[in-house]
Amino acid sequence: MLRELKKECDTPVPVLRRVAEAMAADMRAGLAVDGGSDLKMILSYVHSLPTGDEKGLFYALDLGGTNFRVLRVQLGGKDDRVIATEFEQVTIPQELMFGTSEELFDFIALKLTNFAANEGGKFHLSSGRMREIGFTFSFPVRQTSIDSGILIKWTKGFAVSGTAGKDVVACLNEAMVRRGLDMRVSALVNDTVGTLAGARYWDDDVMVAVILGTGTNACYVERTDAIPKLNGHAPSSGTTIINTEWGAFSTGLPLTEFDRDMDAASINPGEQIYEKTISGMYLGEIVRRVLVKMSKDGELFGRQSPEKLHTPFTLRTPDLCKMQNDSSSDLLAVGAVLYDVAGIESEVGAREVVVDICDTIARRGGRLAGAGIVGILQKMEEDSSGLIFGKRTVVAMDGGLYENYTQYRDYLHEAVADLLGPELCRNVVIEHSKDGSGIGAALLAASNSKYDHDF
Ligand code: BG6
Ligand code: GLC
Repeated sequence: MLRELKKECDTPVPVLRRVAEAMAADMRAGLAVDGGSDLKMILSYVHSLPTGDEKGLFYALDLGGTNFRVLRVQLGGKDDRVIATEFEQVTIPQELMFGTSEELFDFIALKLTNFAANEGGKFHLSSGRMREIGFTFSFPVRQTSIDSGILIKWTKGFAVSGTAGKDVVACLNEAMVRRGLDMRVSALVNDTVGTLAGARYWDDDVMVAVILGTGTNACYVERTDAIPKLNGHAPSSGTTIINTEWGAFSTGLPLTEFDRDMDAASINPGEQIYEKTISGMYLGEIVRRVLVKMSKDGELFGRQSPEKLHTPFTLRTPDLCKMQNDSSSDLLAVGAVLYDVAGIESEVGAREVVVDICDTIARRGGRLAGAGIVGILQKMEEDSSGLIFGKRTVVAMDGGLYENYTQYRDYLHEAVADLLGPELCRNVVIEHSKDGSGIGAALLAASNSKYDHDF
């Protein structure tokens, strides 16, 4: 069974190359016309990235990862840059992920109200201004301007009723009015776009941003003449940021019965297939499904029939990471995870198999993520000959999966190197840009401020 699984999950270079090419082709089709491919290729309305000149006090909200964050940032312009920053974060309560839109936005407005009430002396709002917010909302949104956008659908297990089809900034504004909070959203951005803006603030070579966390996505700097669906409405800057929503990509992925069963049982069957194959929310669940089958049909854990293992999502990606990092000869940490998660008493042989399964699923995920990145870079290179591989190009990366799962990260880098070869790879830098999307959103609120920039 393990041999079969490994075969099905294998990602040799020709498979990765086809995935990279399909990613590039889907990008083009999505840029040509809305609905042209799995990739939505969303226009972000961010036509210019931070320059370093941004000044003033700005707030940011960050919704969509494991944690919800509220931040404030005092920007000091070219010489002083980020003068001060403070943030608070909380895990979004499970019941809000399945509640109503009003409940969710009321929660956000409440956290923002409490946080804003504690604004200390390091922060200074110039007179005559309202506090402005950069809102990172990490779900697919059809932007209608830099400060408005319609939620297309929830992803990553959120199933909040009454938001899809609505302007999420209007939802937030209504909740702020209910709380009597006088603040305004100046920029609505995806987490990838926030990460790109945050990283570009420090490094001019950042061209792509990728999130590998609970979910996954990528955005990049695109030339407006390569976006037919702009229909002549191109901004004068000549470039804009495209949010690919690559989690919906599906072409040529090596999938197994476990992926198909997980997808069928999910709240969004048939959707977000790439995300379900490579992102943190799902890797643990895929392994759990493999273990259920192997314990039933292959007696992996002897005669035990571990009931708890049958509960979806009991095994989490951080558990896989913990098990793969176990260097003890008896794999004691693996034994402990299996016992804690599912009450399984395991022998060393079974633990070794479990680690092998984790590695197989993490390897496939990491390598496919690497292929996606190469697909984006290749598309950009084809349209700009030499401007990507001919000079230093930075991919800003964020998300708990990339940050914490060493083996996954190594497999991703390995795939990028396999596909690009040593020559091209030299100029491509994948840089961890931790929590950059909050500051990035604040920076975009500053560059899209409703007020004069001087204070
Ligand atoms: C964070 C960003 O750093 O990374 C979020 O600010 C993003 O906007 C997140 O969603 C991904 O986090 P996680 O918790 O899914 O790994
Ligand atoms: C999901 C969301 C996307 C987000 C990504 C990473 O794929 O649809 O908007 O960027 O997760 O958080």
